[in-house]
Parts: sequence; C-alpha cells; structure tokens
Amino acid sequence: MGWCCCSRWLSQSRLTIGVSVSPFLSTARSCSLSFSSNCHVSSSPQPTLQQQPPLTRSSQLVALEYADLNLSCNLDLGHVRIRQHVNPLSSSFSVPAQVPDWNQVFADPTLPLMVDIGCGSGRFLMWLAKRTPKERNFLGLEIRQRIVKRAESWAKDLALDNIHFLFANATISFKQLVESYLGPLVLVSILCPDPHFKKRHHKRRVLQKPLVGAIVDNLMPGGQVFIQSDVLDMALDMRNQFDEVEALKHIDFLNLGHSAMLCDSEGWLLSNPMGMRTEREIHAELEGAKIYRRLYQKHM
Ligand SMILES: C[S@@+](CC[C@H](N)C(=O)[O-])C[C@H]1O[C@@H](n2cnc3c(N)ncnc32)[C@H](O)[C@@H]1O
Repeated sequence: MGWCCCSRWLSQSRLTIGVSVSPFLSTARSCSLSFSSNCHVSSSPQPTLQQQPPLTRSSQLVALEYADLNLSCNLDLGHVRIRQHVNPLSSSFSVPAQVPDWNQVFADPTLPLMVDIGCGSGRFLMWLAKRTPKERNFLGLEIRQRIVKRAESWAKDLALDNIHFLFANATISFKQLVESYLGPLVLVSILCPDPHFKKRHHKRRVLQKPLVGAIVDNLMPGGQVFIQSDVLDMALDMRNQFDEVEALKHIDFLNLGHSAMLCDSEGWLLSNPMGMRTEREIHAELEGAKIYRRLYQKHM
C-alpha cells in the first residue's frame, strides 16, 4: 500500500484550500497568486487556484512557496518515471553510501551541520541553505537517486557552497556519514517520512532504533531533532522513539522574538518552527490534514 494509501486517506479528507499558514511566512509565501515563474505557476488566463484540481493547486503552491529560489525547470527528469516509493530493505539499498570528502563538498566543512533525512526534492533544504550561508552546512539524504541528481543540479545553479545531497539509505548510512563530519551536528530533521502503513511494512520506515541512537549520540549538546508527519500513526511512532531517549527533552515553548510557539494539548507543536513548509507538508495542508510536529533538544 505505502504512500498511495495515504493519498487515498487524504483525498477523503477536506478538499478545501484550507492552507494553514505558518506565522513564519516568507514574503514569497504571502505574496499574491499572480506570481509567475519559469516553473509551475502562471498568471491569467489560467483558472484560479480554487477551480483547479487538487494536484495542480498543490504543485502551484509548492512553486509559489519556493519562488524566491527561482529554480529552473529546464532540468526535468526526462521521461523516466520517478518511483513514488522504493523498498529500502531491498538489497540494492543495503550498501552504505560512500563518505564524501567534506572538504570537497562544503566551502567550510567545519560549520555546524543540519541533516535532513528523506529530503525529497531538496527544495526545503536549499531554502534554508540560502538563508544561512557561511553559518551552517546542510546535508540532504535521499534514497531515490534521480531526485538527488536533480537536487544537486539545482544546488549548483544556485551556487550554494553550504549544501550537499547524497543518494543514501539514511537508515544504514547516517551514522558513518555524521561520524566522519568535521564540525558539530546541530539539527536533524525527519519530515513527513514515508509511512509504510501496513504493520508488516513498518520495518521499512526510515526511523529505526539504531538510527535514533546514531542521531542522539552524534548531536552536539543543545542540538535539536525536528520531526513531523501528516500521518498520526507515523508521527506517534517517531515521537515514541524520541520521547524514550533520556538525553533529549521535548521543546514545547519556543520564543522566536516576534512570536512564541506552543504545543497543543496533546504535545504537538502548533506551527512549523523552520520558517518554511516542506513539499509534503504543503500538499497535506492543502488537503486539510493536520501536521503533527515535535522538536527535541539534547541536554547541555
Ligand atoms: C513523503 S517524502 C517527504 C519528503 C520531504 N521530507 C517533505 O516533507 O516534502 C519521504 C522521502 O523520504 C525518502 N526516503 C524514504 N526512505 C528513505 C531512506 N531509508 N533513506 C533516505 N530517504 C528515504 C523518500 O524517497 C521520499 O523522498
């Protein structure tokens, strides 16, 4: 079943344009829908967002939110179909990714590192990387090789020297990658991972006990883990695994200067603290889904 099952679940939910907008919107996100880019969003005489089928609206919203990246669409992936899912347990994904020469992939390989596990298209990470050049490095781990290639090309177009994408099964490659890194690990995110709904497929989920251990062991004191999912069962699975870790505390109040971010009565963060929604998050919120989020911090 996998993710398609979730799509079905989502399409059964509210189909309004109920995009829940984070208080940390970038200008790009709050600008009007007349935006036109060389990507997906175009101005009239296109039908309005409300008149379009959900998928079109969804990809337009993604383009809109990431408009200031100004990514080229010339670099499509040809006619080869990108698989929606892969089975991470298949033998082709059992070989750990080669550790790169960090001096080759980052201008300053000693900067604090954020790792996004299952980064998808990589646009979310590029958006962050563009905002913090010379402050932080970003590493995206993704198991679908073709989208990694596209992410690498986009990053090159953007001339970002603080981001790198790796084709990797994060479940088995994360540990040796971060152990070899030359600076501190400050943030790990696992955002809307594939839920693999069937119980017998839960072992395909990216977050398994050894990965939890590798994240916690390698995080610097004060370092953070940010998780989210639009699938409650998936979110609870991740939450239960991180809640158990004594070295971590759950952050339920964030003072962001201009505003504070709290949790709901069940302990889920009310909003996305990153300042940008991921692509899956945009799709899910368009469908009216709730996003379940938790932020953890390693004790000092
Ligand atoms: C539903 S997508 C979410 C992408 C992105 N984080 C977002 O929120 O838009 C989950 C991503 O995780 C990737 N993935 C699944 N298992 C993985 C694994 N073991 N290692 C690395 N990436 C994985 C999938 O290929 C997919 O791109």
